[in-house]
Amino acid sequence: MQIVNTHLTSLLGTRVPIVSAAMAGAASTDLAVEVTRGGGFGFVGAAFDAPEKLAADLKAARASFPDLAPTAPTPIGVGFIGWLLDTDEVRGRALLAAALASNVAAIWLAFGVDLRKWVFATRDGAVPPGAPRPLVFVQVTSVEEARVAAEEWGVDVVVAQGNESGGHGGAAAPPTFTLVSEVLAKLGPSGPPVLAAGGLATGAQIASCLTLGAAGVVLGTRYVLTPESVYPAGGKARLLRATGTHTVRTLALDYARGTYGWPVGIDGRGLRTAIVDDIESGVEHAEVQAKFKAGDEGYTVTWSGTGVGLMNEIKPAKQLTEELHADVVKAFQRTQSFFAV
Ligand SMILES: Cc1cc2nc3c(=O)[nH]c(=O)nc-3n(C[C@H](O)[C@H](O)[C@H](O)COP(=O)(O)O)c2cc1C
Repeated sequence: MQIVNTHLTSLLGTRVPIVSAAMAGAASTDLAVEVTRGGGFGFVGAAFDAPEKLAADLKAARASFPDLAPTAPTPIGVGFIGWLLDTDEVRGRALLAAALASNVAAIWLAFGVDLRKWVFATRDGAVPPGAPRPLVFVQVTSVEEARVAAEEWGVDVVVAQGNESGGHGGAAAPPTFTLVSEVLAKLGPSGPPVLAAGGLATGAQIASCLTLGAAGVVLGTRYVLTPESVYPAGGKARLLRATGTHTVRTLALDYARGTYGWPVGIDGRGLRTAIVDDIESGVEHAEVQAKFKAGDEGYTVTWSGTGVGLMNEIKPAKQLTEELHADVVKAFQRTQSFFAV
């Protein structure tokens, strides 16, 4: 048995409504390819890549799907961070052009003060002759952002990212269940598909998001724990040891790394470490940065969603996607038993 969402399936050609997040520093093309091979849809996190490297990686990724027709899109997506594209717009446009020229199926945009510009640059950029335009995914952290993305920009897919999410997100984002429900109510049945992101680790959780009305889900932290993710081994080990109560929303982890450009209202969720304790108790950023750089005990940055306590092993991305999907089926079968015949 298979869980199919016609809305997402017809758009993306995915077999199952599970998407791996565009994660800078974690989601490689290998990860994206293996998620798609597992029946889901994989994104590459390309925020920090050089355009030439991205083009070469995407070319290699395309070769992993030897049966593709010449103009058919490579069934993976590429994710960018709006404010980083803005920081050096020439490089930003070159990065986007590399993704578009590679004929990927989707572009993901998040965290920008002027994301509209990048949505339209995606729509206007050159794709190979005869190739379809990639779908535009925009990740949002509030109902109003979802409304603007859907109604004013006409994006193809809205990713509703709740407070539980790992990595960067809205400091004031509602919990995933609340945000997804509110976004669905706002956009209505004629709106674009809405994917739920934040804190998800199990098939039963995914089934509950689909029951809410989400067309699918996005998992980030869970896919960090795969051999294909390029996240550092030490970070993966810390995630395996952590529980959900170890995570915190904060800017402290960015201060330690010396990253100050996030738009107002965005912070990140990661494991609470000495960095967070120090910043909260007023230690100077420079002092914390020095300890982080020197690799002092406990001065680590590990992005993580609240679902981390349910993640106990590293598993190949294809296998993980297939198992999650099988667990979604089981969860729905269990709930059917609640009905009297
Ligand atoms: C290590 C890591 C890196 C991330 N990088 C990005 C990114 O580059 N762009 C982006 O839009 N979201 C990024 N995110 C957030 C994800 O897109 C997604 O919303 C989040 O992982 C979902 O929550 P979960 O981690 O609890 O599954 C990142 C998340 C993690 C854990």
